[in-house]
Amino acid sequence: MSSIGDTFRVKADGRRLGTVQDPGVFAEGAVWFGLEADAGEDERREGWRLTQLTARAESGDSLRVIKAPQLRQEQSDDSLRARAADVGRPFDIGAALAENPLLTDSRYRALAGSQFSMLTPENAFKPQFLHPRRGVYDFRDADLLVRFARANDMKVHAHTLVWHEALPTWMRENDDPEEVRRTMLRHIATVAGHFKGKVAEWDVVNEPMSDDEKSYTNGDRGLRSEQSPWFEAMGEEYIDEAFRAAHRADPKARLFLNEYGVEEEGERWDALYDLVERLKERGVPIDGVGFQNHEYAPGDRIDPETFRSHVRDLAELGIQARVSEMDVPIGEDEEDGQQTQADEMAGKLRVCLEEPNCTSFSTWGFTDRYGSTADTKIYPPRTADSLPWDAALRPKLAYERLLEAFDEA
Ligand code: G3I
Repeated sequence: MSSIGDTFRVKADGRRLGTVQDPGVFAEGAVWFGLEADAGEDERREGWRLTQLTARAESGDSLRVIKAPQLRQEQSDDSLRARAADVGRPFDIGAALAENPLLTDSRYRALAGSQFSMLTPENAFKPQFLHPRRGVYDFRDADLLVRFARANDMKVHAHTLVWHEALPTWMRENDDPEEVRRTMLRHIATVAGHFKGKVAEWDVVNEPMSDDEKSYTNGDRGLRSEQSPWFEAMGEEYIDEAFRAAHRADPKARLFLNEYGVEEEGERWDALYDLVERLKERGVPIDGVGFQNHEYAPGDRIDPETFRSHVRDLAELGIQARVSEMDVPIGEDEEDGQQTQADEMAGKLRVCLEEPNCTSFSTWGFTDRYGSTADTKIYPPRTADSLPWDAALRPKLAYERLLEAFDEA
């Protein structure tokens, strides 16, 4: 791989494979080298071992090994979090953060620590990474995010304890219902116990609603069934048990159920509302509902007033709401994409600020440089365009509109 100007050229076995635009990965004059040795499921197999790594500076240049960066970032009055602090009630502005750019990209780090009062770990708290083998936990990346939050007086909205995705293979392999239940409860007790007092909130259950039309009429009450080992083993009760276990492990944490596609009207929202009502009736310790607000397709762009009515419905049940994962990709042929994106984000933030039970607004990432809507599996790879900062970490119109929404509040 060679870097020429703003282009990477990739060669293998003497063959030129192609070129990729460089969004400035060497801009800081530092190279981060990452390796992974996955021994696979068979613990006796060793994978491979790196025995030597040589780095050489071109003549005249010096070479230095960088240790872990300073986590505390400089604060500014001109930021989203400074505006959020002035709302007159506790209100957080957040983003999903990833540990790799936090370590390797000082501009990402500076914005993350100075613009937001809350962070959601994008992946580090998922069972796939935290609990790779039965009883083997790896908290290193997750703890780094918690330390970053502490260093910058940010809250952690932890994501997520129980989901049907991002599971290590071993968690899917058991079909004895009692064993599955024990696995879930042990995972929650250990993980929520580890972070007790360090995280403000948990997504206890993520995306429990079904994408299959049938689930809304066949007695499953709209809950995701076959895909979820938890529902398969316990039925709806897995949700009750998960919340109760999280509450036992960390009684002060606020507990959320997080879902997509429920901003709009329809049977999905109706079923979610009914579920929350049942949970309340059964005395389950649920504090809030996260509305993900991914607007992956133009059809996902719904009137903020509809979203408002759902937030109000929850208020009547004594339940909080939050915008938990907002991002708005811009369609390729969209004329006024930046404007639409800015309007969509500011529209939801405005509603959230106006409804007293809406406690925070978070985007899923904050810069297109590392956005989850990037497509790196195609050639040439497509960068993301869904977030308030662009791939060069410059603020976009959406950022300005979010600031204005705070100013109007
Ligand atoms: O880092 C690992 C690497 O070690 C491994 O070798 C490689 C091969 O699988 O995968 C890398 O992990 C990937 C991870 O992202 C980090 O890049 C996972 O495979 C990949 O599945 C994972 O995707 C995440 C996805 O959730 C599934 O967990 C996305 O980054 C993340 O943005 C996305 O976030 C979800 C929310 O949790 C829930 N709501 C929707 C939202 C967007 O899809």
